[in-house]
Amino acid sequence: MTYQAEYEKSINQPELFWAEKAADIPWYKKPSQILGKDEFGTDRWFMDGELNTCYAALDYHVESGRGEQIALYYDSPVTDTKYSLTYSELQSKVALFAGALADKGIVKGDRVIVYMPMVAEAVIAMLACARLGAVHSVVFGGFAPHELAVRIDDATPKAIISASCGIEIQKVIPYKEMLDEAISLAAHKPEFCVLLQRPQVQAALTEGRDFDWAALVADAKPAPCTPVAATDPLYILYTSGTTGKPKGVVRDNGGHAVALKYSMKAIYDMNPGEVFMAASDVGWVVGHSYIVYAPLLAGCTTVVYEGKPVRTPDCGAFWRLIEEYKIKGFFTAPTAFRAVKKEDPDGEELKKYDISSLKNLFLAGERLDPPTFYWLQELVGVPVVDHWWQTETGWAIASNQMGIEPRSAKAGSATVPTAGFNVQILDSKGGQMPASEQGSVCIQLPMPPGCLTTVYGDPERFKNSYMNTFKGYYLTGDGGYIDEEGYVFIMGRTDDVINVAGHRLSTGEMEEIIAGHPGVAECAVIGVNDELKGQLPVGLVIMKDGYSGDSETLEAELAARVRKEIGAIACYKQTLVVDRLPKTRSGKILRNILRSIADGKDYVVPSTIDDPASLPEIESIMADNKIGFAGR
Ligand code: COA
Ligand code: AMP
Repeated sequence: MTYQAEYEKSINQPELFWAEKAADIPWYKKPSQILGKDEFGTDRWFMDGELNTCYAALDYHVESGRGEQIALYYDSPVTDTKYSLTYSELQSKVALFAGALADKGIVKGDRVIVYMPMVAEAVIAMLACARLGAVHSVVFGGFAPHELAVRIDDATPKAIISASCGIEIQKVIPYKEMLDEAISLAAHKPEFCVLLQRPQVQAALTEGRDFDWAALVADAKPAPCTPVAATDPLYILYTSGTTGKPKGVVRDNGGHAVALKYSMKAIYDMNPGEVFMAASDVGWVVGHSYIVYAPLLAGCTTVVYEGKPVRTPDCGAFWRLIEEYKIKGFFTAPTAFRAVKKEDPDGEELKKYDISSLKNLFLAGERLDPPTFYWLQELVGVPVVDHWWQTETGWAIASNQMGIEPRSAKAGSATVPTAGFNVQILDSKGGQMPASEQGSVCIQLPMPPGCLTTVYGDPERFKNSYMNTFKGYYLTGDGGYIDEEGYVFIMGRTDDVINVAGHRLSTGEMEEIIAGHPGVAECAVIGVNDELKGQLPVGLVIMKDGYSGDSETLEAELAARVRKEIGAIACYKQTLVVDRLPKTRSGKILRNILRSIADGKDYVVPSTIDDPASLPEIESIMADNKIGFAGR
């Protein structure tokens, strides 16, 4: 089938298209109602179907004769550990851990937070929850206790699964201490915690609350798979919005399984038995979809990697992994390859490895900048696929579709929309933009299976954030255009979300933290271009009259505050003290103009501006500090 025929069918006959794709999933009860609406009027897929995602990812393969195939390679250069698990072995471990959770009272619908480093047990914990019909919420290990506490209060988990420590480059992350602090900060308290003791740190268990993973499993019996409705939630994954409170993206079981299985062949050209690696973290959507669920649903082998692209031990790490595990499809964020390129621009490390197993290289998480695209294309010699997606969609909205009909790539473009994503570029009034003109990137409803079904506990926020701006469309929050040949170009966020080293962060949240400092009268945080990390946050701050500290002290204190509240991954370091900020007469800070100045872009001064003289001042302060230099 050609791409055009496949795509048109998915848009013109969505129910027929997805009913056919649903036949690839082992259901307990096959769905007869393919598309319907829930009580909030949201489109829902496979409403009367029943399945279990863990069954489809593990047991089904064991029963179909794939039990001896490797399901998961574990590779941790930071702890010098490597091993593999077959589908049968992974199924046994998951069933036993699910049994242990069931013994402690976890049942279908309970929320369980997973706060773990990149250990195979994180995958086991997620699948064990899915096996019981419990809803996991994985929190990225790089988040500080405050962020974990916010998620504990929102998801109100019955249990938290964590580990004694994580290992970053030459530093031990004390997960247990962070867990304790988060639980003491949170209003909601979990009934119990399970702790994986790693050899590097033996953490003291909190009496009556904490249980040792190994001891629990030693006493457990394997748990069977609990049938759930296709529309029951599989997981909640928090992502940054425009305010300080993260949004709990809810994904259901049926649509997720169907869409991810479909994507493995259509987008990634992966067949059962082949090896796929996503160099991400289980705390991000890429990790959920393409480290854990999709490769296993498709009967592939996944690689769980506790390491970095560089310095663990060197910038040949990715090439070594591709050679060692005969990886066919490799996926990471552009920033990871920019880090490799910085250390090894001529690809000397690559010459040491045989990467002939590699057929396609996939990049997402941020725009693949053309210099990195060309560098990779020349160096690696296989198709370099930039594909665009979001935590909310769970799989790619636009991509070169390597399993259907590969096209020639255009630098800076995520190629063409994937099945079911009717991508439209709208102007501020909801009208269609002409080809090649930038506007707000929206998706005409219905969205395909696998996309978010609501914001956890807040259906109003779901509507307001995504559905109410343009009736009949989902608002992606990205700006971009579609060219005359139908290629999609995503140019960046139109809201207060920034992307730092492939990590999605909210400038609104940073502003709330900074505004809490006693020396700060007002502030705005914007993302500025950075050659390595894509963007970095920079604060523009007006000091309070009478504040006795100097600007250096303030800068250091604000950096420490953001690091303590959000975590080191926020990479907030730079603060510029200004006398005034550009605002409208109604007092709204003109952040989009600040962003344009930082990016060296032209901007239109709105007629509603209160104090136009503030603009040249800001321009000169930014120029003095070489802000956004990379983008000029
Ligand atoms: N747990 C705890 N801390 C973490 C962490 C984790 N899982 N991940 C990152 N951090 C810390 C880092 O140690 C660093 O701390 P420091 O300020 O004390 O040095 C800080 O957060 C910033 O990390 P990062 O922005 O990742 O910078 P880096 O210099 O350590 O690494 C890259 C740079 C490009 C190698 C790294 O960002 C990378 O591999 N990025 C890929 C991103 C990715 O996989 N994104 C997922 C979407 S696909
Ligand atoms: P996240 O939810 O963390 O996956 O971040 C999603 C956001 O990252 C999107 O809304 C985009 O702004 C950006 N993004 C992800 N992939 C791409 C891409 N291939 N091209 C451009 N932007 C991207």
